[in-house]
Amino acid sequence: MQVVIFDHSEQVAQHAAQWISDLITNKTTPVLGLATGSTPISLYNMLVDMHQTQALSFADVTTFNLDEYHNIAPDNPQSYCRFMHDNLFSLVDIDPANTHLPTCSANQNPRQQGLKYEAAIEAAGGIDLQILGIGANGHIGFNEPSSSLASKTRIKTLTEQTIQDNSRLFKSDEHQPDSAMTMGIGTIMASRYVLLMATGEHKAAAVNAMITGPLSATCPASALQMHENAIVVLDKAAASKLTNQSYYRWADRQNAKLNAQYGFYHNY
Ligand code: F6R
Repeated sequence: MQVVIFDHSEQVAQHAAQWISDLITNKTTPVLGLATGSTPISLYNMLVDMHQTQALSFADVTTFNLDEYHNIAPDNPQSYCRFMHDNLFSLVDIDPANTHLPTCSANQNPRQQGLKYEAAIEAAGGIDLQILGIGANGHIGFNEPSSSLASKTRIKTLTEQTIQDNSRLFKSDEHQPDSAMTMGIGTIMASRYVLLMATGEHKAAAVNAMITGPLSATCPASALQMHENAIVVLDKAAASKLTNQSYYRWADRQNAKLNAQYGFYHNY
């Protein structure tokens, strides 16, 4: 795991934006895995800005989102389809036909939808770079604690903590779904690179469990300890419970020197 710690949350978004920009300018048919939530909003703002000011093009990009609420209309303001449309897809030159979310309406079979989503990822050649956030309970995607570390895209019942954490986004008279379709941990682990962003002190305990805790379904994000190319990008507050901070900062400076000397190698 490469752990990169910045003083400010904006730098976390900038670092992630640079990874995405490097991927889509260096690969002819890049496949991006995307996340929703509060954390990546500034990343998407930066990508839109790079599209407008630096001609960063998404014309050949294919995307797969981590998750979507079960049985929610794509134009519902609470849906992740709508979130992606409003924050990124409608603001860059991506072909809507190349954007995918694991949707499942009431009259569809979640198991079949999960299999179809896995097949679509495979047909696209697999995910090059998966962007992740982390829940305060250590979830990635909607893989809640106790999720199988080998799981694939499927329907998951959300925990009370996740429902509570996300209730800030719903009005009191609005229906809040209690289940979602999500890529599995096995799906995420199959991505060539994963880049997890975490900001704020409320994520510090989960970040510490992910990086220094035992590999356990109790903290689904700890599975990333087994990923060959996992980059964890944190602000100071999210890193505040890590004991090895000075080592991570030192290793990062050493990596920059190695990259300058030997070039940066992406195994996409
Ligand atoms: C969203 C997702 C979730 C979030 C996590 C953190 O697509 O997969 O795992 O990344 O719940 O959410 P925020 O960023 O709102 O704190």
